[in-house]
Amino acid sequence: MDVDELISSSKLLKHWPSLFITLALIWIVKRLFFKGNRVLKTYNLDEQVEEEVEHFADLGDELQPALEDKPHVPFVPGQNLNPNGAKRLYELMRGRRSIRSFSSHPKPDLSVIEDCIRAAGTAPSGAHTEPWTYCVVQEPELKRSIREIVEQEELVNYSQRMHPQWVTDLRPLQTNHVKEYLTEAPYLILIFKQTYGLSENGKRMRRHYYNEISTSIAAGILLCALQAAGLASLVTTPLNCGPALRNLLGRPVNEKLLILLPVGYPKDGCTVPDLARKNLSNIMVTF
Ligand SMILES: Cc1cc2nc3c(=O)[nH]c(=O)nc-3n(C[C@H](O)[C@H](O)[C@H](O)COP(=O)(O)O)c2cc1C
Repeated sequence: MDVDELISSSKLLKHWPSLFITLALIWIVKRLFFKGNRVLKTYNLDEQVEEEVEHFADLGDELQPALEDKPHVPFVPGQNLNPNGAKRLYELMRGRRSIRSFSSHPKPDLSVIEDCIRAAGTAPSGAHTEPWTYCVVQEPELKRSIREIVEQEELVNYSQRMHPQWVTDLRPLQTNHVKEYLTEAPYLILIFKQTYGLSENGKRMRRHYYNEISTSIAAGILLCALQAAGLASLVTTPLNCGPALRNLLGRPVNEKLLILLPVGYPKDGCTVPDLARKNLSNIMVTF
């Protein structure tokens, strides 16, 4: 078979121009589609976010630090728990467990919760942006509304959104879409990360670098403080509930729910899964 014969017998070689044009069109459409998606992904949480995030672009020429320029002062070490401070903290923290059955009474004093949140507020944060808000809910009616929102979504989460493997992994914890603790616990602390902030006059946007990491570190300190105060808690991250809970509490669009934390004392007869924790040799590598 000579070359001419080969070309006329091969459909691929014969139709290469139309094939090339089709592939080029697919590539163009795909690029357009993904570009559109990226925009959507960034902005579709709320129309206002789109409007406000675009403000960042206007800052270009007149860059100023978000923090006021401050003098540097000598470092004064704070208190510690020595002797054996770290060991004592470890002994305290090893007793922390997530509980899912709370007693409505007694209700811890709000001042204790305030101290715990003060402690959380000492966390480090990207560029000292302190990108967190703690909403403390104690009103029964509001707790009922929160439970309603969460249970509705969790029913869909467990039955449709979560991968069967995920649901299977949760089986030992005996969790399901029913969340009695949301109305039983005397306090619900909703921890929001602020994805961006506003300057004091409200005119300039402030970038909140690493806002999720910063807020998570602060949440860790909050858990330590609650444990130190003898209070129990449960870190929960109800999937798909953030916007509805933010609206319910009338929080601004720059705040995104990170953790919903019921807090209080355990109900009589409260049980927890008999979990073991990794030992030091499994979590620490020395060099
Ligand atoms: C980021 C994060 C998300 C969690 N989400 C949930 C949740 O949605 N519902 C729940 O019942 N427990 C949740 N937990 C609690 C874990 O199941 C619990 O920490 C784990 O089983 C270990 O138990 P312990 O906290 O008693 O040590 C979450 C914990 C973390 C750190």
